[in-house]
Amino acid sequence: MTGRTERYDERVGGPDADAGSLVSGAVAVHEVGAGRAAEVVSVIHAGFGARTPLDPPSTATDETEESVARVLTDHGGLLAEAGGRPVGALLLETGGDLLGLRRVAVHPDAQRMGVAGALVGTAERVARERGYAGLRLAARTELPGTLRFWRHLGYDQLSREGTTVTMAKALPVEKEATTAEEARALGARLATLLRAGDLLILTGDLGAGKTTFTQGLGEGLQVRGGVTSPTFVIARVHPSLVGGPALVHVDAYRLGGIDELDDLDLDTSLDEAVTVVEWGEGIAEGLADTRLEVSLTRARGDDVPPGDGDHADDVDPRHVRFTPVGARWIGSGLREALA
Ligand SMILES: Nc1ncnc2c1ncn2[C@@H]1O[C@H](COP(=O)(O)OP(=O)(O)OP(=O)(O)O)[C@@H](O)[C@H]1O
Ligand SMILES: [Mg+2]
Repeated sequence: MTGRTERYDERVGGPDADAGSLVSGAVAVHEVGAGRAAEVVSVIHAGFGARTPLDPPSTATDETEESVARVLTDHGGLLAEAGGRPVGALLLETGGDLLGLRRVAVHPDAQRMGVAGALVGTAERVARERGYAGLRLAARTELPGTLRFWRHLGYDQLSREGTTVTMAKALPVEKEATTAEEARALGARLATLLRAGDLLILTGDLGAGKTTFTQGLGEGLQVRGGVTSPTFVIARVHPSLVGGPALVHVDAYRLGGIDELDDLDLDTSLDEAVTVVEWGEGIAEGLADTRLEVSLTRARGDDVPPGDGDHADDVDPRHVRFTPVGARWIGSGLREALA
C-alpha cells in the first residue's frame, strides 16, 4: 500500500538540537504489521516521553515491543518515516462503526513537519477504504494544543470522562444521481434522519440541482407547498403537514452571511425547523459548527449546458457529496439512510 507523501522545507528540532540529528526528507506513511513493532514502539516512547507529564499519566510509555506487536497483528497501525527514520506512528482499533486511533505519536525531532497530519490523512483514507462511517480517538483536556489540532481536522467532542475526551469525525458520503428524479429520491431518503435544528448547506454551480434536491427533502419531510427556487424571496417556510419540523429554504445569494438568517423575520424558529441554504461554491465553510454540507457537481462538467434530467436521452448525472460537520452526525446513520 502506498503511503501519502508530504514535502516540507522547515528544519526544526529546537534551538538545542544537534543539527546532525535533525530529520529531513519527505514524510511517507505506511500501514505496518508486527514486523515493524520495534520502530513503532520507539516512536511512541519518544513522542509521549517528550510530552507534558499528565495526572493520571498516559499509559503509552508502558507499551512494549510485544504489546505493540499484538496490536499491529490484531488491528494494524501506521508508521511515518522521513529521511530513513521513523518519525511518527499510531495504532488502529478496528471493529465497530468508527475506526479508532490510539497512541498518535510524533518524534520530538520531527515536530512541525506535518507528520501528525500525514498520519491522520492516511488513517482517514484507510477508514474510507474499509467502509468505516468515521474515526474516533481519545484526547486529554490538559493538552489544549492537541485538542485544537483535532478540531482543526474536523474532529468534534462526543463525550467526556474526567480529563479524557472522546473525539470523532464522520466521513463524507458520495453518491451519484443520474436523473433529477434520483436526486429528489436522495433528498427524500436524507429527510428520514433530519430533525429540528439541522442546517444543510447546499453548494454547487448555477443549475447544479440544489433546488431539485431540496424538493426531495420537502417530499421526505412531508411539508406544505411545492419547493421552488426562492429567487425572489430570501427564504420560504414550508410548515410540516405531519407535526414534524418545518423546512426553511433559503437563497443565500441574497444573504450577507449565515448570521443574518437569525435576523430574518420568519414565522418559525430555526431551532424548530430543518434549514436548507442554497449557496454558491466554496463559501460555505466556517459558517456554523454543526452542519451537513451537500455539494452537487455535474459529472459531465460545465462545458455542456445543463439538461433537464427528466429525459432519458439527455443524461446529465450529478455527483453528490455529503460532508458532515460536528458530532451531531456521528452515528447518525447517514450512509445507511442514503444507501
Ligand atoms: N441529478 C440530476 N440529473 C439530471 N438533471 C438534474 C439533476 N438534478 C437537477 N437536474 C436538472 O437541472 C436543472 C437545474 O436544477 P436546479 O434548479 O435544481 O438547480 P439549482 O442548483 O437550484 O440552480 P440555481 O443555481 O439556479 O439555484 C433542472 O432542469 C433539473 O431538472
Ligand atoms: Mg436553485
